[in-house]
Amino acid sequence: MAGIIHSFPRIVLVGCGNMGVALLKGWQREGLTPQGVRIIEPQPAKVPQGFTTLADPSRIEKGFKPEVVLFAVKPQALAEVLPGYREFAGEGALMVSIAAGKKTGFYESLLGPCRLARVMPSTPALVGEGASVAVGNAAVTEADRAVVTRLLESVGTCHWVADEAIMDAVTALSGSGPAFVFYVAECLAAAGEKLGLSKELSVALAVQTIRGSGILASESEQSLEALRHAVTSPGGTTEAGLKLLMDGRLQKVLEETLAQACKRGRELSE
Ligand SMILES: NC(=O)c1ccc[n+]([C@@H]2O[C@H](COP(=O)([O-])OP(=O)(O)OC[C@H]3O[C@@H](n4cnc5c(N)ncnc54)[C@H](OP(=O)(O)O)[C@@H]3O)[C@@H](O)[C@H]2O)c1
Repeated sequence: MAGIIHSFPRIVLVGCGNMGVALLKGWQREGLTPQGVRIIEPQPAKVPQGFTTLADPSRIEKGFKPEVVLFAVKPQALAEVLPGYREFAGEGALMVSIAAGKKTGFYESLLGPCRLARVMPSTPALVGEGASVAVGNAAVTEADRAVVTRLLESVGTCHWVADEAIMDAVTALSGSGPAFVFYVAECLAAAGEKLGLSKELSVALAVQTIRGSGILASESEQSLEALRHAVTSPGGTTEAGLKLLMDGRLQKVLEETLAQACKRGRELSE
């Protein structure tokens, strides 16, 4: 039977640090081979076994026509890095950046007219569980969106937003969110210790509770509220705890936490 071949797009990966390596491993699981990618990274030791690096884009052989160029360098490196890829942009490669904060106009000014997607990934992408959100410039097509979605879904989920202005809120929730959740885990563990649990057991239970609840919530068709009700028996222990937890203070603190992060994101991307 003739099957449909979903060949992996030819990619230039610019920057192979934490995120670059995570993406590369995700793409490998999806069928990318070392022949299908050119990696630009000053430190060859960072790339996974089987892959090689090039020092700069001028080393990419003329015959390698990338369909996608993905930037995974620090935001502060972009102004120097981007002009080296203008030619690929001009030849029609889809440009994708996962760098935090920089707006699409910034990329267009350094790359020239191009099809561009800006993506906000999140740290759990390092274990294949990231929450990425993408926004495209005016030139991006439906087919481009499908390519970007595929590239990012190899390390978690990928959602799209239409308005770039919303990216600061995304950064506050899913970009900074892992740090907020780690802190909640720390607080739960410290509270468990106060009730007499050993530190080791308390940390293990807090982490596994967050992990298990997250998986349950993402795999269930029930709403978060319904899931909460399902573990809350009338007059029971959970209800006693929730009475305090849901008195409005936590809600307010979380609202203010995200608002602060969002405001800082806006300041940094100005
Ligand atoms: N890590 C996260 O959880 C996370 C979350 C959301 C967004 N992001 C975004 O993802 C991007 C990458 O983050 P990361 O944590 O992977 O950073 P990273 O580990 O520092 O990786 C960046 C890599 O780019 C290399 N590089 C520097 N100049 C280069 C050049 N001219 N050409 C090619 N490569 C170059 C760096 O090499 P040197 O070390 O030698 O400079 C480094 O290996 C950042 O823009 C960040 O905002 C990351």
